[in-house]
Amino acid sequence: MRVFSGIQPSGPAHLGNYLGAFRQWVDVQSPDAFYCVVDLHALTLEIAPDVLRAQTTDLLATLMASGLDPEICTIFIQSQVPYHAQLSWLLECVATSGELSRMTAFKEKSQRQEGYRVGLLTYPVLMAADILLYETEEVPVGDDQRQHLELTRDVAEKFNHRFGETFRLPVGTQPKVAARVMDLQEPTRKMSKSISSPLGKLYMFDSPADIEKKIAKAVTDNDGEVRFDWIKKPGVSNLLEIYSSLSGETPQQVASRYTRYGELKSDLAELIIKTLAPLKQRRDELLESPEDLYRVAARGADKAAAVAGAVYRRAATAMGLT
Ligand code: TYM
Repeated sequence: MRVFSGIQPSGPAHLGNYLGAFRQWVDVQSPDAFYCVVDLHALTLEIAPDVLRAQTTDLLATLMASGLDPEICTIFIQSQVPYHAQLSWLLECVATSGELSRMTAFKEKSQRQEGYRVGLLTYPVLMAADILLYETEEVPVGDDQRQHLELTRDVAEKFNHRFGETFRLPVGTQPKVAARVMDLQEPTRKMSKSISSPLGKLYMFDSPADIEKKIAKAVTDNDGEVRFDWIKKPGVSNLLEIYSSLSGETPQQVASRYTRYGELKSDLAELIIKTLAPLKQRRDELLESPEDLYRVAARGADKAAAVAGAVYRRAATAMGLT
């Protein structure tokens, strides 16, 4: 099963990335799986060059600390495989501004940048290129990427229709729980690297004290009942879903064991700390030799380019490039 997925180095990974994405990636890793730090996508945000570089390195270490094994799957950096940007241009000449300006992520982010950059609009086309270059069958992602996945399929279909069968149509897969981890302060919006407030997002490698603080201060409600109900109790339901994703129980089972928010919160903080502590240690060790990380990425880029190059050439030829 050919698998592809990616993460933007727009900040350190948070709990949503871990539960919604990385754990699925580890579950389905194989020699046919490609995982990518999408640094070109991060350029759509205001980000200093040295910060971008450091965050890219950090995410390579984070992915491996989370359980991705470069001896099993391919881990690489998007900008080191030039076909991504090249195919993106070809697909920009297929996608329309109408379909791109309908994307929720674009609408949200463009409101925050006055005179938004063009890359923010064409962002999902680059994402489509990422996926289509690998003849991907499955894309393990969180719930927030569904719309981008649909666009990828639409663009691929349009291309195939106009230029002949070229791309395989991928499907997105989401975990059963924690596909959409919510902001701890605003539980009706997703936890986001770029948008959430400092207390709203829990980084994978926050200190135990910060994890305890952020969970303790997580917004709940006033009725005091521990119950799983996304409509009436989004804050509590978010905590229950995070808990369930870490313990393997259902959110309802977790809820049935608690009568007080305080106890639920302190047990949850402990569970998060216990789960992430060994990963933090591994990530810190990996960061001690960044040259090894970059060797892994360079080897990954070679493997990726061998697959992506063939697909790119097929697409370019189909469009009439010589
Ligand atoms: P990004 O960098 O925002 O997030 C990386 C992965 O984490 C998931 N995720 C979440 N899951 C659950 N709850 C959350 N609050 C949460 N926040 C993020 C995302 O769904 C994602 O799976 N556009 C993509 C990056 C990308 C990509 C690709 C993904 C570029 N090209 C090709 C898949 C395939 C993004 O910004 O993800």
